[in-house]
Amino acid sequence: MKCVDDFRFRLGQHELVPIMIGGMGVDISTVELALEAARLGGVGHISDAMVPTVIDRHFKTRFVKEKLKLYKANVTNLADKTLVKFHLGELEEATRMHVRRAMDAKHGSGMVFINCMEKLTMNAPKETLKVRLNAALDAGIDGITLAAGLHLGSFGLMEEHARFRDAKIGIIVSSLRALQLFIRKNARTNRLPDYVVVEGPLAGGHLGFGMDWANYDLATIVGEIQTWLKAEQLDIPLIPAGGIFTGSDATAYLERGAAAVQVATRFTVTKECGLPDPIKQEYYIANEDDIEVNGISPTGYPMRMIKSSPAIGAGTHPNCESFGYLLDANGRCAYIDAYNRAVAEHPGEKKVRVWDKTCLCTHMRDFDLWTCGTCFP
Ligand SMILES: Cc1cc2nc3c(=O)[nH]c(=O)nc-3n(C[C@H](O)[C@H](O)[C@H](O)COP(=O)(O)O)c2cc1C
Repeated sequence: MKCVDDFRFRLGQHELVPIMIGGMGVDISTVELALEAARLGGVGHISDAMVPTVIDRHFKTRFVKEKLKLYKANVTNLADKTLVKFHLGELEEATRMHVRRAMDAKHGSGMVFINCMEKLTMNAPKETLKVRLNAALDAGIDGITLAAGLHLGSFGLMEEHARFRDAKIGIIVSSLRALQLFIRKNARTNRLPDYVVVEGPLAGGHLGFGMDWANYDLATIVGEIQTWLKAEQLDIPLIPAGGIFTGSDATAYLERGAAAVQVATRFTVTKECGLPDPIKQEYYIANEDDIEVNGISPTGYPMRMIKSSPAIGAGTHPNCESFGYLLDANGRCAYIDAYNRAVAEHPGEKKVRVWDKTCLCTHMRDFDLWTCGTCFP
């Protein structure tokens, strides 16, 4: 019987251990975790979620405090967040610091990538995404994984960068259709993705499916994409993700032609993972009955999490002036609407509970939303 180490992940000129640790925001897949994956010859991800906040923690900078100071007068304005913008120069600086912290310390034959989520719309989707992508390239990241969104314009936002054709750039999809659309829309850049992560319905984090996620199956989606790539004579490494928990799970995909596997939940309990120790214990002791897929993420994507996550029903006052990573192009977030509804339904109450949505920025920052994958549908 073969084992994972009998396989190698060939990515251009690189020969890697076929394990990629998936991006886990916010600072759950830490620089330390990504560096360890690279040291051992695989691929580790840092995350570009809420980087100014993460950098404040590591470098004692004041990105969040300064932003709050600037917009303090707007904190009680729960009707309009349009003026709460990110300073693009600061965002660029924070992203560079974050990536350099990883790349300056990197050794070993593996690689460090950054997971970049399109759904972090930050009240100026195109401008902020452009800054994040290009700053990561400037700071020498080995690769960028385009995540949480279709990313139809992301190649265009980077194509002027000197490293656009030399850094590894991949995309996460959950269907053949999404991959076809991405390739078609980016044909003009004359560049294909260097790898494709196929994320199935059992993954942690946001799911690229509706609440009918249980009707889908990772192996089937991977098979469809493999068949199509072959018919199109496209040689792009495929990396299945979601519910791959054991060496045997991984080997089953590698034997069927996957280039590598992306794994995340298994690494939430490692020493290098950013979760505080008591929360690692929550992941340790969780079983299948403790996990649910719900619709509380303001992004609109379903999310799988441990049912006892404090973020569920928390009713936090929106913190957009400090964070605001999910404000859309019009300064709106589904959590603010849900919060306002809850307040209107409970006049005079000091503290409301909000069950239908959660303040994802605050709770991911505080490690209060315990998203995870599962190995059973
Ligand atoms: C705690 C946690 C946080 C995650 N955060 C992100 C994220 O910020 N961006 C993203 O694209 N995927 C995220 N994911 C998904 C993983 O990168 C990965 O693709 C998926 O979890 C793989 O399934 P597995 O956890 O069953 O191994 C997260 C997963 C976990 C467990």
